[in-house]
Amino acid sequence: MLQGKKILLGVTGGIAAYKAVEVVSRLRKAGAEVRVVMTKEATEFVTELTFREISGNPVAVDMWAPIQHWNVAHIALAEWADLALVAPATANILAKAALGVADDMLTTTLLAVTAPVFFAPAMNCNMYAHPAVRENIEKLASRGAHFIAPGTGKLACGAEGPGRLAEPAEIVAALENFFAEGAQLSGVKVLVTAAGTIEPIDPVRYIGNRSSGRMGYALAEEAVARGAEVVLVSGPSALTPPKGLQSFVSVETAKEMREVVLREAETSRIVIKAAAVADYHPKTVSDHKIKKNDEELSIILEKNPDILKELGQKKREGQILVGFAAETQNLLQYAKGKIAKKNLDFIVANDVTKPGAGFNTATNIVKIISRGGEIEELPLMEKREIAKRIFDRILPEEFK
Ligand code: PMT
Repeated sequence: MLQGKKILLGVTGGIAAYKAVEVVSRLRKAGAEVRVVMTKEATEFVTELTFREISGNPVAVDMWAPIQHWNVAHIALAEWADLALVAPATANILAKAALGVADDMLTTTLLAVTAPVFFAPAMNCNMYAHPAVRENIEKLASRGAHFIAPGTGKLACGAEGPGRLAEPAEIVAALENFFAEGAQLSGVKVLVTAAGTIEPIDPVRYIGNRSSGRMGYALAEEAVARGAEVVLVSGPSALTPPKGLQSFVSVETAKEMREVVLREAETSRIVIKAAAVADYHPKTVSDHKIKKNDEELSIILEKNPDILKELGQKKREGQILVGFAAETQNLLQYAKGKIAKKNLDFIVANDVTKPGAGFNTATNIVKIISRGGEIEELPLMEKREIAKRIFDRILPEEFK
């Protein structure tokens, strides 16, 4: 998978910089070409010469050094890369990358990179747990950066916990998987729904819910990363749609979502409904703003169509239908009931009362339940990571 791939490796100033030497060696053995950019601090730990010899290429450190091979060095390097990897990634580089700081060769190059970017963090466990670092990781992940989680154990500083750079073999395997997955769903159409629908009451008011779209957008992003042709149908959301979609359709009401979803599902192999569709809409929508008075106001609600149930009734041979269940009690019982009622292959159940789970959070806690009743329980994880695990679970053998 790495044969002929051009990997740009950024090395930053941490004790784990020495492990990056082995990463380069393994990447080259796997057939990749590697060019290294070091921060000045990294050169305090490992010399430029070491990386030059092991990569077989000149190493870039200084923005102002005389140009050797590349035109405008940071731009040429950024354009050359099929993938950029920062290993080890210190708290400092994560903060700079999250902010878009460009004050040395590595940060400037990273800003110009359009290829996928991987960070392999390495730092003291308290630093890794610090809210500032967590926020920077979340911000970078939400922009599409990938993370290779650090290992847990005795750290160079003597502390024990997560923060040890992932092993070079794991880092190389993560890149191999990435390139393998990039082709996994090539030519396969995936339909994802996200965010909540809104049901108007009058020109200024509506009934809505707390769905931000984060779960659905993460799923769409993962499907794109696996090479699928992805259609994302979304209720109102403040999020920017992921890059690389085949199409993005913005809808407001359940009725609008139904129309688009039923049409797109006809040609989709995989359908994942993460949207929080309103079960009811106001029976009448006032043409003008409803004026308040001293009386109580009653709004009669009419049932919305159950889009997923309709999809279940029309399901084609080989189509994979995945629903979500947002519950506040009896999670498993209700979720299993929805599998049967809506003729699903899988349901992803989230107890939305748990801290860090459900609506408008960066993380979620889910159980992936198959039609046959097998349950995979996932602990608290970033929604992007959950999306990955959902695809790993739902894809049949032919894609693996
Ligand atoms: O968007 P986020 O802020 O990231 O929040 C994520 C989430 C909590 C919205 C998501 O994880 C989730 O649980 N989505 C489904 C919410 C929901 O509507 O659950 P439900 O149990 O009411 O519906 C079950 C399934 O039927 C869902 O797949 C839903 O899309 C579908 N449905 C429901 C009603 C309806 N009229 N038509 C439908 O298709």
